[in-house]
Amino acid sequence: MADTIRFILNGKLREVADLSPTTTVLQYLRTVEHLTGTKEGCAEGDCGACTVIVGTLANGAIRYHTVNSCIMFLPVLDGKHLITVEYLKVLAGGSLHPVQQAMVDCHGSQCGFCTPGFVMSLVGLLENTPVPSKEDIQDSLAGNLCRCTGYRPILDAASIAARKGKVHLPSDAQLLRSLQRDALLTYEVQGQKYFAPRTADELAGLVTENPEAILLAGGTDVGLWVTKQHKLLMTLIYTGAIAELHEINETDGNLEIGAAVSYTQAFEKLAAYDESMEVLLQRFASTQIRNSGTVGGNIANGSPIGDGMPPLIALGAKLVLRSAAGVRMIALEDYFISYGKQDRMPGEFIEKIIVPGKAANVLFKTYKLSKRFDQDISAVCSAFALTMDGKTIKSARIAFGGMAATPKRALNVEKYLTGRQWTDETVREAMQFLAQDYTPIKDMRASAEYRMVSAQNLLYRFYIETSEPGTKLRIYGNDG
Ligand SMILES: Cc1cc2nc3c(=O)[nH]c(=O)nc-3n(C[C@H](O)[C@H](O)[C@H](O)COP(=O)(O)OP(=O)(O)OC[C@H]3O[C@@H](n4cnc5c(N)ncnc54)[C@H](O)[C@@H]3O)c2cc1C
Ligand code: FES
Ligand code: FES
Repeated sequence: MADTIRFILNGKLREVADLSPTTTVLQYLRTVEHLTGTKEGCAEGDCGACTVIVGTLANGAIRYHTVNSCIMFLPVLDGKHLITVEYLKVLAGGSLHPVQQAMVDCHGSQCGFCTPGFVMSLVGLLENTPVPSKEDIQDSLAGNLCRCTGYRPILDAASIAARKGKVHLPSDAQLLRSLQRDALLTYEVQGQKYFAPRTADELAGLVTENPEAILLAGGTDVGLWVTKQHKLLMTLIYTGAIAELHEINETDGNLEIGAAVSYTQAFEKLAAYDESMEVLLQRFASTQIRNSGTVGGNIANGSPIGDGMPPLIALGAKLVLRSAAGVRMIALEDYFISYGKQDRMPGEFIEKIIVPGKAANVLFKTYKLSKRFDQDISAVCSAFALTMDGKTIKSARIAFGGMAATPKRALNVEKYLTGRQWTDETVREAMQFLAQDYTPIKDMRASAEYRMVSAQNLLYRFYIETSEPGTKLRIYGNDG
């Protein structure tokens, strides 16, 4: 028997039974609830006008995070609390929320179209980071665009709001607790089906029974198939309600990250590998996208420019694929066969990724190049890991995104480097081997020549930053 979708909207219980499972949260808010404070700018996760806050139960407490409602499907809200800009006045006891008041006082709003989105991003920030730094504020707003104000008044408003008394989001988890399920959710409207299994075994069974089904994780790719490509998705299986797939464990010196772990959740552990990793992750999309987008989805989409791939491949990550028949483990780089083709057999899904710890004798850096610092797709993304024996390179793992049809290792460069001294002469010679490893494409992000020269220069940058400890290059402000 089909279930209904149950969630809390601005403190009140909602139950939905008759809307297509691919209805976006934004469509629902504006056309069903007539809550039109949340705006549609781009419908693809880029502008932030649709930002709302979602509260999820984790270890008995509610954890709030901002998301783009334009690309989130409604059933994903099952068992969660959705908060929109309209609720802020209620939370603030009938007056403007301190963030809204600061926006008024600082002239942070002109035409006002972007304003609810900025306000929600800032409310989300202050809920999770009560004393934010200037960088925290800027980072929290990287996924919100404003065409009128020039941003400075908004940043001023954010600083003032951060200093004023806080209005917290609801912490009483009782109602939310009553909505949690321990069994599979099955939702169906006019033949369109949505399943939310609770265990990896249940997921394996469903994937076998529904070979045509689309797996849905954070939906930051899949959502756009509906809002931009207008595809009709008949069967969706959501991975986000499976506790096992949300786990991050440290075992035997390895970091194991479940496929449904969001980039925000993975950030802390992955950022610890190197300062350059922290910079890369900060530049991965926006706060809203990182809060939804998962590590598993980033791998599974097979994109040649997925930012997670170069560093994970260079670190020697392994991918665990699971099906009803069992589990198999492959090197992450082997998952990518050719453009749009991955080594995923029928009935399989990504269960987790295993990232080896970084030994003290490993030199590691990762760099992203894109036209814009924030919220931009890479033209070239690179990662370098050298295992050293004194000054000698014992082994090398180098991977690039944006240089081929898939994320790919630079095997010729690696071979050249192995056994050599890590010197200026070696690296200059190694740079030439990149032309044997890659024939980059030309597209709107970069020409083939730009990609090749940049890749060579990034290798040289890696040499400078690792051979002269403490050196950190800034290249035209592009990467911190
Ligand atoms: C505005 C915007 C900015 C972005 N910026 C970046 C960026 O800077 N860098 C970057 O790398 N990416 C970026 N992306 C792409 C995207 O956000 C990421 O790739 C994200 O990690 C995808 O994860 P998801 O959970 O949202 O995937 P989903 O959209 O849920 O799924 C993506 C694909 O993976 C499949 N899938 C999901 N989970 C599994 C699983 N467990 N097993 C097998 N298949 C699975 C789905 O069926 C689908 O084919 C951006 C996207 C948007 C909209
Ligand atoms: S409408 Fe632009 S991010 Fe959602
Ligand atoms: S105030 Fe007009 S877009 Fe921001």
